[in-house]
Amino acid sequence: MVVHKQLVDCPAYLGLLLACGKPHISRIMPVLTHGSPVLLCIAVLGGMGPLAAQDAEESRYREQRLAMVDLIASRGVKDSATLAAMRAVPRHEYVPTDSRRLAYGDHPLPIGHGQTISQPYIVAFMTEILQPFPGMKVLEVGTGSGYQASVLAQIGADVYTIEIFEVLATSARERLTRLGFDQIQTRHADGHFGWLEAAPFDAVIVTAAAGFIPPALVEQLKPGGRMVIPVGSVHGIQNLILVLKDESGDLRTRNLLPVRFVPMLSDLR
Ligand SMILES: C[S@@+](CC[C@H](N)C(=O)[O-])C[C@H]1O[C@@H](n2cnc3c(N)ncnc32)[C@H](O)[C@@H]1O
Repeated sequence: MVVHKQLVDCPAYLGLLLACGKPHISRIMPVLTHGSPVLLCIAVLGGMGPLAAQDAEESRYREQRLAMVDLIASRGVKDSATLAAMRAVPRHEYVPTDSRRLAYGDHPLPIGHGQTISQPYIVAFMTEILQPFPGMKVLEVGTGSGYQASVLAQIGADVYTIEIFEVLATSARERLTRLGFDQIQTRHADGHFGWLEAAPFDAVIVTAAAGFIPPALVEQLKPGGRMVIPVGSVHGIQNLILVLKDESGDLRTRNLLPVRFVPMLSDLR
């Protein structure tokens, strides 16, 4: 790198070099600053540039996230635990780097393999419908990015999540660990069969459109439990359905709203 000699004594220039992320400048800093405490101080402050830029970016994302949750609340989601969790979970960490700037728009985004991270309003709506509480045991079918699982875990739920694409299951596992959600249990499998060893569940949430309500998921739901699942075909109508299992095991269903989800696939092998 060329360090312009005539500018070396200019504190602003030194600060700029460091702020631009030229860390190797620090190696020659004692020479450049001639030991001047003022210059050194400015250079050190300048050296915080990249970190400060990162902080500024995080606080921009935070503002966007709060605005996203305000919008969701204005659309009728009231559950304070759901809203608080969505204010806390950094959605931009769950999308590919090149679409981070779109992370807080109220729309789904591609996450690879033809799959998506769901629209934030739908995540909030489905979470609220489950009536989540700390310690609630929840099965999610369709880990995708891991965002929905994280929102539930942020509320304090014990989350078990299944993903049919191995590569998505692996990257979600890594992301959840990196973001401190390592208590979430993940599995690479076909979610039609649920997670028998961990059953029964207080709640089941399916985040891909099923052609029918998988019997195993109903069986693995506790008496008194609730399941939310989009049902319908890929190109036709899909409805978000609430399945309620009463204490004697009888089922009731309620149509909640029309939706559009990627299809629930069968074992890919
Ligand atoms: C709309 S995305 C889910 C978004 C995800 N909940 C999130 O927060 O990012 C649907 C996911 O379901 C997965 N999927 C589809 N069929 C499945 C199945 N039979 N078992 C498990 N996962 C399945 C897809 O691969 C995809 O990742």
